[in-house]
Amino acid sequence: MILSIESSCDDSSIAITRIEDKKLLFHKKISQDEEHAKYGGVVPELAARLHAITLPKILEETQPYFEALKAIAVTNEPGLSVSLVEGVSMAKALSVALHLPLLGINHLKGHICSLFIEEETRFPMDVLLVSGGHTQLLHVKSLEQIELLATTMDDSFGESFDKVGKMLGLPYPAGAIIETYAQKGDAKCFDFTIPLQGTSSSMLAFSYSGLKNQVRLCIEAQERMDEQILCDICASFQRVAVAHLMQKIKKAYQARKVEHFGVVGGASANLYLRGELERFCASKKAQLYTAKMAFCSDNAAMIGRCGVEAYQKGVFVSLEELKVRSSSK
Ligand code: KG4
Ligand code: ZN
Repeated sequence: MILSIESSCDDSSIAITRIEDKKLLFHKKISQDEEHAKYGGVVPELAARLHAITLPKILEETQPYFEALKAIAVTNEPGLSVSLVEGVSMAKALSVALHLPLLGINHLKGHICSLFIEEETRFPMDVLLVSGGHTQLLHVKSLEQIELLATTMDDSFGESFDKVGKMLGLPYPAGAIIETYAQKGDAKCFDFTIPLQGTSSSMLAFSYSGLKNQVRLCIEAQERMDEQILCDICASFQRVAVAHLMQKIKKAYQARKVEHFGVVGGASANLYLRGELERFCASKKAQLYTAKMAFCSDNAAMIGRCGVEAYQKGVFVSLEELKVRSSSK
């Protein structure tokens, strides 16, 4: 079995995954959302202090598995350094105390593995990663060979939901809340412009800061803000944010083949986005892969699943080699 730890941002999570059949035997996650909501976003220092309290509590529950462990897997990049350090320190201490090898796991590869919890991996696959920190379109030949097809020039998809939410006075993280309000709104009410159209339409990249500013101006122009206007702004913003993703995805696959398409990351829980991706995949006769809702946002189950792959390839790291990096290598 592999014990995995995730603490790259504001979720403390530990999982136990059986190596032979990839079965998830234990998984627990404690979210810090409520604590950070008071400040309108993640406060790194607070996140680190909370990890130091919650990770040991979850670890206590995994004691019955200790004797059967073969390795410790931990997210060591990318993420908030002070948060990553908490998980990595715990992993190193466990490695020393239980005489177990260490596996350093890239958080983004972890998200890709959220598609394969309790299942075999299936590569090659094209993957859209939409989270609070990333908006990437990837061609994944294997976990070692990942081609970046497009990334964001500024804000990420999830981050734009959080920032629009903040402007509307909604708590952090706002993604799921905006989606709920959007379901009751008129998505055509406000005619926001889809980013990076026109002259730069040949560019394969994403951008969300312009859309965020359009929404800000729209909010400022409202004489009053009642629930219906709030819902209409959320619906119009979500429509355009997703339309931008879809325009660039369609562009990317004009000349490329796509057979298997996965969507991962916290914002992949968005049902409107999933619906649009379903339509795109149907038009290309491609298969759409989604993670279970519980494994879209940050969790240790995906890190454990990635850990099984790393364990089977024997890519262990020493105490000295296992370093925290805020960005990917
Ligand atoms: O993957 P994740 O848990 O953390 C990062 O690695 O960043 O993603 C969190 C992000 C937040 O920005 C959150 O607002 C967004 O995912 N999110 C959503 C939805 N659920 C979460 N965005 C849009 N629609 C949702 N339903
Ligand atoms: Zn993440």
